Amino acid sequence: MSKFYINGNRRLKGSVNISSAKNAVLPILVSTILTDSVSTINGSPMLEDVFVLCEVLRSLSAEVNIDRDNNKIDINTKNLKYEGIDNDLVRKMRASFLVIGAMVARFGKAKISLPGGCKIGSRPIDLHLKGLKALGATIKEEHGYVEVVAEQLEGNTVYLDFPSVGATENLMMAATLAKGDTFIENAAKEPEIVDLANFLNKMGAKIQGAGSGKICITGVKRLEGVSYTPIFDRIEAGTFIIAAPITKSKITIEGVDEEHLKSVIVKLREMGVKIDVFGNKIVVDGDVELKPTDIMTMPHPGFPTDMQSQMMTLLSITPGRSSVTETIFENRFMQVAELRRMGANINVNGRIATIEGVKELTGAEVVAPDLRAGAGLVLAGLCAKGETIVDHIYHIDRGYVTIEDKLNALGAEITRI
Ligand code: EPZ
Repeated sequence: MSKFYINGNRRLKGSVNISSAKNAVLPILVSTILTDSVSTINGSPMLEDVFVLCEVLRSLSAEVNIDRDNNKIDINTKNLKYEGIDNDLVRKMRASFLVIGAMVARFGKAKISLPGGCKIGSRPIDLHLKGLKALGATIKEEHGYVEVVAEQLEGNTVYLDFPSVGATENLMMAATLAKGDTFIENAAKEPEIVDLANFLNKMGAKIQGAGSGKICITGVKRLEGVSYTPIFDRIEAGTFIIAAPITKSKITIEGVDEEHLKSVIVKLREMGVKIDVFGNKIVVDGDVELKPTDIMTMPHPGFPTDMQSQMMTLLSITPGRSSVTETIFENRFMQVAELRRMGANINVNGRIATIEGVKELTGAEVVAPDLRAGAGLVLAGLCAKGETIVDHIYHIDRGYVTIEDKLNALGAEITRI
């Protein structure tokens, strides 16, 4: 099990380029199931989750060519063959469940292992299934599998009780080949939803309103494979932005759109961080006196839950009392116990964490509990006095392309051991 060895208390400087968004690439790869032609994803991040999804496509007899040197993925779905999606693929990555809508649209049926929970919460799929039922599918759940059948999906109005990202993506994909119009109300508004709609529309779909709470999809007969470059990863960008005040450094983040990061930028400015935007560059000066603040994670455009643990690391060294309320997932404070080992003063009561800023953190051996909590611990290691060892960094590799290379290029001292 590889680990990060981090020598802390170092300033950073220079600029960093942001990769394409994992959470945009995954549903875009799934969309290729909807066509029987060739698509190319340019600039795709070479991440474990992306490779697992390519494995899922290959299990349906798609030809997938991953060109690591050029960050390119070619997918040929001409000879796609129906297959159930087996348990270990879904166990590896719950986002595999995103294929169910596209499979029903393409094959008229889909059988997939019910995704297990994960550490951050039970993560049910009730809204995905409710939506598919509204589009005329019959659903059967037994022996840990769910089977969805629909000769021809029929457009309908679907109201999402919660603006679920995955459910919005699943239903948007399914509706592209349904008969008639589908309206998704209380839809998720994340930038990755807009990027997926742009990709589908380029393939010939008719989708309007992506990014607003109401999306209209007019079914079409056929979609054509295309080449496409997904948007940048706003969570990777946010992670590097927060690294500046954590290490009292001034750094530049390139290849970003501030629109996708507004809530993070606004909160950091309220805390006293100097942030200037020049087109697709963000210059962050974190060598400032920080003021405490209160964070509440919300669906986009609110403060993103995927930035919660990185922000908690910053608040743990911000003088005064701050709080973090996690409203999206029921168990996303697993980084707290690890941060306490580094000297943080944090109390958790249900979904609210109260943080008393301490002067500095001290290096310790910690374990990454999940992807974003792991990123938060790496940031803690950057500012802690002494050495920090972060274990289980395979979680971090799922969402960040060699995070240590990018941080070391800014002056950090991280070794993968
Ligand atoms: C996506 O997960 C992201 N993953 C997550 O990023 C992100 O944290 C999450 O959206 C929220 O922004 C990908 O895009 C691959 P949801 P998803 O459906 O689609 C409840 C990362 O770090 N819910 O919006 O699973 C659910 O339990 C990952 O890259 C239902 O109740 O998120 C959760 O509490 C972590 N029923 C809330 O909605 C459903 O049918 C948000 O889930 C579906 C969801």
